Amino acid sequence: MPLLEIKDLATHFFTQEGVVKAVDGISYSIDEGEVLGVVGESGCGKSVTALSIMRLVADPPGRTVRGEVIFEGEDLLKLDDAEMRNIRGNKISMVFQEPMTSLNPVLTIGRQLTETAELHLNLTKRQALDHAAELLQRVGIPDAANRLKDYPHQFSGGMRQRVMIAMAMSCTPRLIIADEPTTALDVTIQAQILELMQQLADEFGTALIIITHNLGVVARYAHRVVVMYAGKIIETGSAVDIYHHTRHPYTMGLLASVPRLDETQRTKLQAIEGLPPNLVNMPQGCAFAARCPYVFEKCLQEEPGLMEFTDKHTTACWRFAELPELAKASS
Ligand SMILES: Nc1ncnc2c1ncn2[C@@H]1O[C@H](COP(=O)(O)OP(=O)(O)OP(=O)(O)O)[C@@H](O)[C@H]1O
Ligand SMILES: [Mg+2]
Repeated sequence: MPLLEIKDLATHFFTQEGVVKAVDGISYSIDEGEVLGVVGESGCGKSVTALSIMRLVADPPGRTVRGEVIFEGEDLLKLDDAEMRNIRGNKISMVFQEPMTSLNPVLTIGRQLTETAELHLNLTKRQALDHAAELLQRVGIPDAANRLKDYPHQFSGGMRQRVMIAMAMSCTPRLIIADEPTTALDVTIQAQILELMQQLADEFGTALIIITHNLGVVARYAHRVVVMYAGKIIETGSAVDIYHHTRHPYTMGLLASVPRLDETQRTKLQAIEGLPPNLVNMPQGCAFAARCPYVFEKCLQEEPGLMEFTDKHTTACWRFAELPELAKASS
């Protein structure tokens, strides 16, 4: 049984402009100790998926309108608020996109780190402080015991991100969802933070969902990859499948737009032309058709669902079988 299985998850925002189908029928699963990468351009629904799992989507305007989120055999969408609070932080924790918004600026780091530990682990104040100091040390903050007295603004961006990871690890959860944990940081620090998360995940058998724009990041750290476009999954597979046997033109576009770790000579980076469709008013057929270099008749009429290229590699492209030849011919 997977640790977490999302089935046909859909979260919509009910706005004056209409219904924004931010997440519209997402299914994926993650095993214990696995590292899953979720990638896609800005606005494709990565964060809303994560927030839906945690049941943190603001309602109104957002609502999860269908689907299941099965965690350790239980549908989280059916739990009452108290049960859900016990899951959050304790069994599943999330590292948010922007640490300053999730750290409380008026409370010391020590106070914030001991809060969850006292709540979920039943520790005394003294024990919780020791635990907090140990966590800070684990995530590589020098002079950890003394820094417990400091406030978030006294830490650098990278250090704040480490504090967030310490908080997420505090109760040794089964799953950590890291939403763009490093985009605001410089590359060396990004690599350090991801290295650290991977180490901790290994050590504790924690599963990790890494959400990112950057396919370079997932190639290096994820076992499996989910590629999202306009609220849906358009390709899934192992990191090797996604990198070396790409079967969706959008994924190809993403790969061409980031520096590849396996490339020695520099090739020019190309952004994918055009914009994703309006999520209020989705076009008929394939959502990527308007931007796709290989579009043909059927793409404009019929929406491709996920199809199996191999049993572990799926793609939502009508032309997946001939795609390598098409790409070769056009390059
Ligand atoms: N409160 C809201 N009201 C209306 N639409 C919303 C709201 N929150 C999110 N959305 C829409 O949902 C879509 C998905 O947003 P989401 O934040 O999940 O994107 P993302 O993939 O995480 O992007 P990024 O890479 O920029 O973080 C976006 O088009 C966004 O405009
Ligand atoms: Mg996001």
